[in-house]
Amino acid sequence: MPVENSRISGFYKKSIEERVRLIKDLVGLSDEDIGVLRSWGNLDPKIADAMIENVVGAMSYPFAIATNFKVNGKDYLVPMVIEESSVVAAASNAARVMRKDDGIKAVTTGPVMISQIQLVNVKAPYYAKMKIIEYKEEILELANKQDPVLVKLGGGAKDLEVRVIGGPQGPMVVTHLIVDVRDAMGANAVNTMAEKVAPLIERITGGKVYLRILTNLAEKRLARAWVKVYKEDIGGEEAVDGIVAASDFAWADPYRAATHNKGIMNGIIAVALATGQDHRALEAGAHAYAARNGRYMPLSLWEKDEEGNLVGSLELPIAVGLVGGAVKVHPVARLAIKILGVETAQELAEIMAAVGLAQNFAALRALATEGIQKGHMKLHAKNIAIMAGASPELADKIADIMVSEGNVRFDRAKELLEELGHSSS
Ligand code: MEV
Repeated sequence: MPVENSRISGFYKKSIEERVRLIKDLVGLSDEDIGVLRSWGNLDPKIADAMIENVVGAMSYPFAIATNFKVNGKDYLVPMVIEESSVVAAASNAARVMRKDDGIKAVTTGPVMISQIQLVNVKAPYYAKMKIIEYKEEILELANKQDPVLVKLGGGAKDLEVRVIGGPQGPMVVTHLIVDVRDAMGANAVNTMAEKVAPLIERITGGKVYLRILTNLAEKRLARAWVKVYKEDIGGEEAVDGIVAASDFAWADPYRAATHNKGIMNGIIAVALATGQDHRALEAGAHAYAARNGRYMPLSLWEKDEEGNLVGSLELPIAVGLVGGAVKVHPVARLAIKILGVETAQELAEIMAAVGLAQNFAALRALATEGIQKGHMKLHAKNIAIMAGASPELADKIADIMVSEGNVRFDRAKELLEELGHSSS
């Protein structure tokens, strides 16, 4: 039932303990519920409280390691955080058949973000565009004054592009500030720059600036990955043909492309969560990039080469950072970076692209051959058995029986639990 009144004044000012007590009273939580909120796991309450507002607890997700990854000739153990079964196993299995020839290849175009400044109320928008270009050096200089540290590291605002676009209320002049953010994800740096240069753009043009914010369509921060999978390592040319046909399906059909890309993001987002990245930014960037030509397309493509081997490639924006944000604050994210052993944001983006490609291969391979349910079902069945009250050991047995019967259901799990002589209470 919804709470009677959700209007709480100054909730953010209260201590965690006060917030918990308040919610307990409002919702009628039990002591057991409060116990769940009080088990903070590996996140210190003080850190959690500093990360976001209105904190009352923390939520743990499984933290796993995908094995077998070789990217650009280097071996990596890849931390992944995800709630979906089979993803980590699939990534590890895929990476195993991608180790030849130095493994998966990956590159990035550079840590370059774009910040947008929206200008309206200009009588002659194309002339205003030229005026902004005329003042380019002043604008870049002003932007760079906001972040001397970034400039010292070789980053900073490098260029600008100006577009005139039409809105329902008339034309707008949109300035793109092109910023090299080095090892940061860069949102704070580029948003600050955009805010600082906005008054100058207003002065130059006589117009009015409204929005000053980065675009998640980070088309200048692309990561690319490619790989050759030898046919004999995946059961011959029939498997190759099946994967190529699956890829063609996504190429031809946005309905399929959405799911195809979801499979890629299964891997990328799991690494993003483990390493404390802004995964919403990654999702937004990936899907906007997939639709950049007016029709939603797959981010990867699989082909057959002249020897009958499978070759795959992937390209998408990956805006990630190693400085600032949760990656530095959350102890598990810090540990994930240590396990992964990456030294730059670009290296992290390369690994993520490689994981996305491997994850995509695993999904297409399963879909084009035995289907994904067989692999999924065992873990799903085990989850159902645990929900029905089975111990982890017994859950394994019950899951096996339910899968072999083709009957994976909560009521069947309960029945089996009783048959096997255990109470589910
Ligand atoms: C499930 O999480 C992901 C897949 O649907 C991806 C795909 O269909 O390519 C298996």
